Amino acid sequence: MGVEVQIEGLSKSFGRQVIWENVTFTLPAGEISVLLGPSGTGKSVFLKCVVGLLKPNSGFIGVGDVDVVSCSEKDLYEVRRLFGVLFQDGALFGSMNLYDNVAFPLREHTRKSEREVRQIVMEKLDMVGLAGSEKLLPGEISGGMRKRAGIARALVLDPEIILFDEPDSGLDPVRTALLNQLIVDLNAQTDTTMLIVTHDINTARTVPDNIGMLYHRRLAMFGPREMLLTSQEPVVRQFLNAQRHGPIGMAEEKDADELAQEQLAGIKLPPLPPVVLQLMPSDGRPRPSQHPPGEWCRRNGVTPPPGSFEGDVTTAPGPVPRETRTVPALADPPLYGEQQYGGRHHG
Ligand SMILES: Nc1ncnc2c1ncn2[C@@H]1O[C@H](COP(=O)(O)OP(=O)(O)OP(=O)(O)O)[C@@H](O)[C@H]1O
Ligand SMILES: [Mg+2]
Repeated sequence: MGVEVQIEGLSKSFGRQVIWENVTFTLPAGEISVLLGPSGTGKSVFLKCVVGLLKPNSGFIGVGDVDVVSCSEKDLYEVRRLFGVLFQDGALFGSMNLYDNVAFPLREHTRKSEREVRQIVMEKLDMVGLAGSEKLLPGEISGGMRKRAGIARALVLDPEIILFDEPDSGLDPVRTALLNQLIVDLNAQTDTTMLIVTHDINTARTVPDNIGMLYHRRLAMFGPREMLLTSQEPVVRQFLNAQRHGPIGMAEEKDADELAQEQLAGIKLPPLPPVVLQLMPSDGRPRPSQHPPGEWCRRNGVTPPPGSFEGDVTTAPGPVPRETRTVPALADPPLYGEQQYGGRHHG
């Protein structure tokens, strides 16, 4: 079983720039979680804090019985071995070919023979579709290939926790679909705790068990996938449905004038689209950490949008309904006023 990661009261600033404050949630062991948020809200900074590469100003990051924020260098070195990390830019060594890049963590952290190293490296390169490219340098391959090499490197130590920073950016739609399947299959086989930062709404809607969202220097919400997909909270709803209308603008926050104008113009948001089924492992059997479709909604008395949990997510979902404009302005549907989820949420 993977390892739980507990985040409590975490805050991070650079000088006087507050990135986020008082972030509290738990990545449940063995589950897949997605972290969303507009560009610049500090998702990459958050991942770097979790692996101890950046120091938060305050708070607690519990991994096993270690607090990453306050532990010794020695404990940090040990705890880092539990993690596989794909950084946003791939972070490959430019002067090493792909083989040596992927072999690097094995040579650094294990005493495996070169024969064993070769077997693991070739297996992981094959897994991400890079068999045959092992002699190439990072500068000689496409952005998507670098991304996939970074994924192979994140997997070589068979980590307990994997952090992926936009694994799908720069990948074509077919490879994104294949990567999502790879992530789900990997989770089914290994029970690794996973956190994926992505801007891909289809990935966010279909892959994870939990979704979190950073917005406006705080964690807007974190909880089971069904909770966020049925949420009427304006920021969550706008983001997960890729809508123009709502609190998020081109600059991170729209100004109050613009919001007031939208309200005057009588923008009425379309109904929420159906909650699609979660992507299943290739063998068709649910992952150990997977919850039955509709379970969260039933337990919490939430009626999901009509058509939810029907159909097959291996085919792309239909287009999200367009915003509609009605005059005069009608009151928005009532908000459910969900609480931010902190700590464990299933039960
Ligand atoms: N080492 C650093 N020193 C100072 N400021 C930093 C540092 N790293 C990041 N920042 C700032 O922190 C903020 C959040 O950056 P971050 O890269 O985490 O955003 P993000 O949510 O990952 O965005 P994107 O979706 O575009 O990748 C930005 O304003 C960035 O300039
Ligand atoms: Mg980022």
